Amino acid sequence: MLPFPVPDEAPEALPAQDQPVLVVDLGGQYSQLIARRVREARVYSELVGHRSSADELAAKNPAALILSGGPASVYADEAPQVDPGIYELGVPVLGICYGMQLMAQDLGGRVERAAGEFGKTTFRLRGALASGLPEEQTGWMSHRDSVTAPPAGAEVTAGSESTPIAGFEAPDRKLYGVQFHPEVAHTPHGQEVLKNFLYGIAGARPTWTAAAVIEEQVERIRAQVGRGRVVCGLSGGVDSAVAALLVYKAVGDQLTCVYVDHGLMRKDETAQVIETFEGHFHVPLVHVDAADRFLARLEGVTEPEEKRLVVGEEFIRVFEEEAEKLGETRFLVQGTLYSDVIESGGTDGVAAKIKSHHNVGGLPEDMKMELVEPLRALFKDEVRRVGEELGLPEAMVWRHPFPGPGLSIRIIGEVTRERLDTLREADAILLEEVRRAGLYRELWQCFAVLPAIRSVGVQGDERTYGYPIVIRAVTSEDAMTADWARLPYDLLETISSRIVNEIPAVNRVALDLTSKPPATIEWE
Ligand code: XMP
Repeated sequence: MLPFPVPDEAPEALPAQDQPVLVVDLGGQYSQLIARRVREARVYSELVGHRSSADELAAKNPAALILSGGPASVYADEAPQVDPGIYELGVPVLGICYGMQLMAQDLGGRVERAAGEFGKTTFRLRGALASGLPEEQTGWMSHRDSVTAPPAGAEVTAGSESTPIAGFEAPDRKLYGVQFHPEVAHTPHGQEVLKNFLYGIAGARPTWTAAAVIEEQVERIRAQVGRGRVVCGLSGGVDSAVAALLVYKAVGDQLTCVYVDHGLMRKDETAQVIETFEGHFHVPLVHVDAADRFLARLEGVTEPEEKRLVVGEEFIRVFEEEAEKLGETRFLVQGTLYSDVIESGGTDGVAAKIKSHHNVGGLPEDMKMELVEPLRALFKDEVRRVGEELGLPEAMVWRHPFPGPGLSIRIIGEVTRERLDTLREADAILLEEVRRAGLYRELWQCFAVLPAIRSVGVQGDERTYGYPIVIRAVTSEDAMTADWARLPYDLLETISSRIVNEIPAVNRVALDLTSKPPATIEWE
């Protein structure tokens, strides 16, 4: 039995995005994660900057507010604050960690420096947030300051050995606080605590489903595009594929997709894009076979950043030529994700992070087209769910990330047709065996690298002088850090023996045993 009352998906419920749960970002490292967890409970959630006024937040018609954690002390000079008017909106507010301390300070309680708690901690939790859950729980704590007096009229509902006030509730004013982090995996009942808040306290409904996303986006796209013509560049990746399918569902043949084949894709990928879009979905598709052009431009280029530059420039040139042939086209589809929006500082007050890669395959800013960005509200896992719902093949939905410059940065040295063919074959064997072993989805990325050096081997009675292939397989959460994957020896043996036996140009297979840092995931 579920510990929390899950309301039915009532037909009169508002469209999911019309009643968001707003996560007020107070600078904590988990702010984004809170929004993702809320969405996992099928309730739409957005991050907002803490400088937003109560009126601005109210204008978004929120179902609830969640104040995130943050690294500051509430009494520090630069401590992020919220407009105290938010407590008077009549909208339920949940403060987490720093968010709870800020509520206490703003509402007549007290916060003081204490010994703090870091890591897994046992605590007791009662009250509406604990509905259906055991009173004694473990959870993740990370705080130095502690609340030493709750807000006026609030009841203390949680405590640990060293932090007697680790949670409070003031149901009359719809104010709730927890010192622990319900959003992290180290808090086993955390998601249920959040659901108690969302469903039980805020009365939110689980309407944020892939089907609802599709319905809402289709409507928005129609409203934006009208009768205009739209172009979308397909890369073979899940983002551009899902964005294209949403637009096609909305405006049909007003959309033309352009797939620039730079000849640097993996084996069979181009065929798959064409088969899926043209063959299966019947989306108007221009397929440009530009491999010769890219190879010509890459001749003699060995330096990694120069490869990126060359491929990026040529990509834009080809795309522009094709877009021009389409005639008057007002709109350009881009697969911008919610995490891109947040990272580029799109939610005011949220620390802007520096993007680690210029995304090759991106398009120039001076293309005078209006952007259509149907994935702007979605996290990557949601894009995948929408892709599945739209009927995109599994191989595309779950494809590992693949860099814009493609195989050109997985050949260390000059890119030639012969080396590309060799690398493609090795990569295909590697992926086939990893899939067969059922490990593909567990890995963040897995691919072959071809350092253009030669080593001596012996095959039959003959001396060989061939290329090595390096196996690179990593696990990761977000590509910022990564660990090398411990692939089973039997699997490695099969891969190695198939590669040297099936590909004449290769006589040696090596395994990359480096994490990131100090190495990067790609070799260039
Ligand atoms: P690194 O190699 O820096 O890669 O650990 C982190 C993630 O970024 C991908 N990557 C790229 N993506 N254009 C892209 O679109 C690029 O030039 C590029 N270089 C690396 C890489 O595959 C990994 O997922």
